[in-house]
Amino acid sequence: MPGVGDKARDPNRVIVFDTTLRDGEQAPGFSMGVAEKLEMARALADLGVDVIEAGFAAASPGDEEAVRVVSGEIEGPAFCSLSRATEGDIMAAHRALAHNRGRRIHIFLGTSPIHRKAKFNMTADEVLAQAVRSVAFARTLFDDVEFSAEDAIRTEPDFLGDVMEAVAEAGASTLNVPDTVGYSTPIEIHALFQYLHGRIAPKYPDAVLSAHCHDDLGMAVANTLAAVQAGARQVEVAVNGIGERAGNSALEEVVMALRTRADQYGLTTGVDTTKLVGVSRLLSKVTESPVPRNKAIVGVNAFAHEAGIHQHGVLVDARTYEIMLPQDVGFDGTSFVLGKHSGRHAVAKRASVLGHELSGNFLSAVFRGFKRRADEIGEINDRELLAIISSAAKEDTREDGGRRVVHS
Ligand code: KIV
Ligand code: ZN
Repeated sequence: MPGVGDKARDPNRVIVFDTTLRDGEQAPGFSMGVAEKLEMARALADLGVDVIEAGFAAASPGDEEAVRVVSGEIEGPAFCSLSRATEGDIMAAHRALAHNRGRRIHIFLGTSPIHRKAKFNMTADEVLAQAVRSVAFARTLFDDVEFSAEDAIRTEPDFLGDVMEAVAEAGASTLNVPDTVGYSTPIEIHALFQYLHGRIAPKYPDAVLSAHCHDDLGMAVANTLAAVQAGARQVEVAVNGIGERAGNSALEEVVMALRTRADQYGLTTGVDTTKLVGVSRLLSKVTESPVPRNKAIVGVNAFAHEAGIHQHGVLVDARTYEIMLPQDVGFDGTSFVLGKHSGRHAVAKRASVLGHELSGNFLSAVFRGFKRRADEIGEINDRELLAIISSAAKEDTREDGGRRVVHS
């Protein structure tokens, strides 16, 4: 069945709504054309996300075209366009998604006092009426309507509850609560979702509460997970955490947190986690933006060890310093980086892989040469290690008056 369908009815299933191609793409440096969006959307469908927000059809003819092409060519997830709460935007989204059977429209309207005053100069009642009008109109064209109360976190909770109830009554089936400016904290957002869940679930049991968190204070993923613990069953996320300003919740982090800490959350997603690194690398390629080494889950350091104590521990039992299997996110395996923090054990092991069994005084000599060189250049690759072994061998031969020559 195209679209989200029954997944939304399974209480233990978290809907993964990917906004890499909309919120992610609208951030400086991450812009994508139709071809790049198509390549990414294929990979996201393959990854197993449930909804792909392909763009904001009314934003530009290029965006409308991208939503049309991507949603027309790829099967599997529901495709979605962002839309302001106006008939013109809703019509543009409808035109762009006309060929997608599982299509969804995502309508947003600022509800906080600052948005009401600074953006619209409207009263709370006027905002509520526009939200309801736009959802009711969208329902004449779409079966699947999502409503976002933009800047929900800075909206009065009782008014936010009134808006959510009213749009659910008008036919919105997903109620998104964005922390538009990344201001919330895990405890605060947990309480807000509990409050909203208490108001919405008894009257609209099929409505899905959704979290959309920005990372301005570095808490997007923690806030998303806190919302999930309080009843959210859709997470809005982006690959590598790209998005407005400091970005959105990182897809790979939310998904792996839910999986790795299933003991805490008891929830599942439809994501094939072994494809996470591949999708992250693809996004990095199409946007020409490198993934930081230390990025959780997909950075090259996520399963790499240089410190001797850690390398030794991982060699004995990887669980000493790894909480996930590298293969589960798409890496080949753990990587041991040789550098000034590495120990004799790791150096001897790498040398052995390269065909040199080192022990005793000769290993000590190689290890001294290794530490000297690592202080100079940092990481020691295989070529450098072989050069160190060879120079220690020459040194050793000279000390022996030229008699001993075999050190491999
Ligand atoms: O951050 C935000 O509020 C948004 C909405 C448009 C959902 O991206
Ligand atoms: Zn956003």
